[in-house]
Amino acid sequence: MIEIKNIDKYYQDIKVLDDVSMTIKSGEIFGIIGHSGAGKSTLLRCINRLEDYKNGEILVNNKNVKNLNEKELRELRKDLGMIFQQFSLLERKTVFENIALPLECFKYSKDEIKRRVLELLDLVGISNKRNEKPRNLSGGQKQRVAIARALALNPKVILCDEATSALDPNTTKSILNLLQDINNKLGITIVIVTHQMEVIKQICTRVAIMEGGKVLEIDDTEEVFLHNRNGLRALVGEENIVLPKGINIKILFPKEISNDTIITKMARDLDINFSIIFGRLEKFRKNILGSLIINVPANNGDDVRQYLDKEKIRWEEIIND
Ligand SMILES: Nc1ncnc2c1ncn2[C@@H]1O[C@H](COP(=O)(O)OP(=O)(O)O)[C@@H](O)[C@H]1O
Ligand SMILES: [Mg+2]
Repeated sequence: MIEIKNIDKYYQDIKVLDDVSMTIKSGEIFGIIGHSGAGKSTLLRCINRLEDYKNGEILVNNKNVKNLNEKELRELRKDLGMIFQQFSLLERKTVFENIALPLECFKYSKDEIKRRVLELLDLVGISNKRNEKPRNLSGGQKQRVAIARALALNPKVILCDEATSALDPNTTKSILNLLQDINNKLGITIVIVTHQMEVIKQICTRVAIMEGGKVLEIDDTEEVFLHNRNGLRALVGEENIVLPKGINIKILFPKEISNDTIITKMARDLDINFSIIFGRLEKFRKNILGSLIINVPANNGDDVRQYLDKEKIRWEEIIND
């Protein structure tokens, strides 16, 4: 488990992480999304202690990363595999040798290295490329090598910094499928830093949205897309559309009831008029999620609230800014 508590970090006088808190549970696929400059990479480097920070605490499996001696720091980094956008492979070495590197650093025997590298090549699906140099591989194959190398020392966590940002959409999907597989089979926690919404949508169970060094929102991914709150709207640059008079109510359509007829039924049952001012449907994995904002006259507010509660419809009131 990774617990990040109230982290502040500065570069010179500029605050690049501002009271950042989040908890990443063991075994989950956790996404951190934000525009360029939001502080995502800096946060990752604070977790594996490549960067220092001013205030706050980061605990990785209950160990405070700030107080580690050199040996403990090596152990921490062994537990935290990392992959990057630019793959960071050594061009002069073969695929096999690249994956063997961390094992050599930790003084594994030749036999052990061979056994482990062959196993990893098989896991990431590039056994036939073992003697190639990186320049003869496609982007997706290079990232597979990097993933194998990150897994070499049996880490508990893999930190991915824009790991799919240099790949085309189909290759991105296949790399995300591989990460999901690794998460399923090996139970490894995966932290995915990205600016790509599709990545979050495809595999993250929970997500934190960051902007300007701050966390705007953290929730289950499905809830984030269902509610479309300030955090997500800030990320995609969408305004909240509400009317200045009456009461604005957002009705949520989770996947179980995406095509319900609640709106027309409510109008009939309550015999009131209301305007529909905004609606959206969002494809989320195999389902459709959606929400609809309606505006009702102030004196009908209580009837509508009670009706929605009685029908077990999820809703929230949108208060004008
Ligand atoms: N080594 C550094 N020195 C000074 N400023 C930095 C350094 N690294 C990052 N920054 C600044 O910190 C902020 C966050 O950067 P970064 O963590 O790379 O964001 P992201 O990964 O979300 O794009 C940016 O404003 C960036 O310019
Ligand atoms: Mg970055």
